[in-house]
Amino acid sequence: MLSRQENAAQPFAQRVDSIIKRVEACLDEHLAGSDQLSHAMAYSVFNGGKRLRPLLVHASGELLDIDPDLLLAPACAVELIHCYSLVHDDLPAMDDDALRRGRPTTHLQFDEATAILAGDALQAMAFEILASEPALTARPNSALRMCATLARACGAQGMAGGQALDLDMEGQRPDKTALEHMFALKTGALIRASILLPACLRPELPAAAHADLTKFADCLGLGFQICDDLLDIEGETAVIGKTAGSDQALDKATWPALFGCDPARSRIAELAAEASICLDRVGGNTEALSWLTDRLLNRDR
Ligand code: IPE
Ligand code: IPE
Ligand code: MG
Ligand code: MG
Ligand code: MG
Repeated sequence: MLSRQENAAQPFAQRVDSIIKRVEACLDEHLAGSDQLSHAMAYSVFNGGKRLRPLLVHASGELLDIDPDLLLAPACAVELIHCYSLVHDDLPAMDDDALRRGRPTTHLQFDEATAILAGDALQAMAFEILASEPALTARPNSALRMCATLARACGAQGMAGGQALDLDMEGQRPDKTALEHMFALKTGALIRASILLPACLRPELPAAAHADLTKFADCLGLGFQICDDLLDIEGETAVIGKTAGSDQALDKATWPALFGCDPARSRIAELAAEASICLDRVGGNTEALSWLTDRLLNRDR
């Protein structure tokens, strides 16, 4: 791992692989069990995810000049929550999907009960790591703030609440405000948490900078879900690793389905511009977060 000074000298793009490797090594240590549930958990995590949320934790940590050793636990925690959300999202009772990251979904590879439990256990593991990682427990107030931030992001006011709205909206035609509110919860909340967890180590951060960072995160989260919706329509199964057209098959309320693909692209560009303005207002070393914004909002998978 490079020192913070060396980090500053090297573009984020050149450090992405080493950050992912370190996060995956840490996840691997925690996912080493040999029973069926442990296998299902490891299967749901080590299957070719882009690891965008751990990268967001690191990029935000660089902006806030946080020691990378303190970022490992939150980076693992957000990826675990994300993987859990995908396992449950794919279940027959939710999106009923067969393919995830190019492989059979967890409930098809194992069985439905195992997939539900694997999701539950991945969620618990995220909080266990946050609450027990030695580098963080030396700063109990920060660790506690992180647990609260992450819990809020995945609960009824965050991801789980958003998933409930997503299901309610199947076959419906919500207006833009209602649709984007659902996106802000189901997808935006965890992206916001990925960016704000490092700020839990900087309680002295001025309220205005915290608010700008939050607004930046919210634009990114919303744009990210609109991209995901577009990829379901325009992407290829072999590239996106999910069954293309699955939203339409379920009559999901998606941005391009309701308002059109070109307007969706314009909305993403508008959100990218707004995100950039907010990030500039935060100031400091924004290189990593700017690079990631571009990667998240202009992707083919
Ligand atoms: C997919 O997220 C689910 C959404 C919230 C849209 P990602 O596109 O980050 O999925 P992986 O982790 O790379 O598979
Ligand atoms: C996912 O939204 C949101 C989650 C909280 C998992 P989608 O249902 O659109 O995600 P994909 O397309 O299955 O990855
Ligand atoms: Mg879904
Ligand atoms: Mg889905
Ligand atoms: Mg989708």
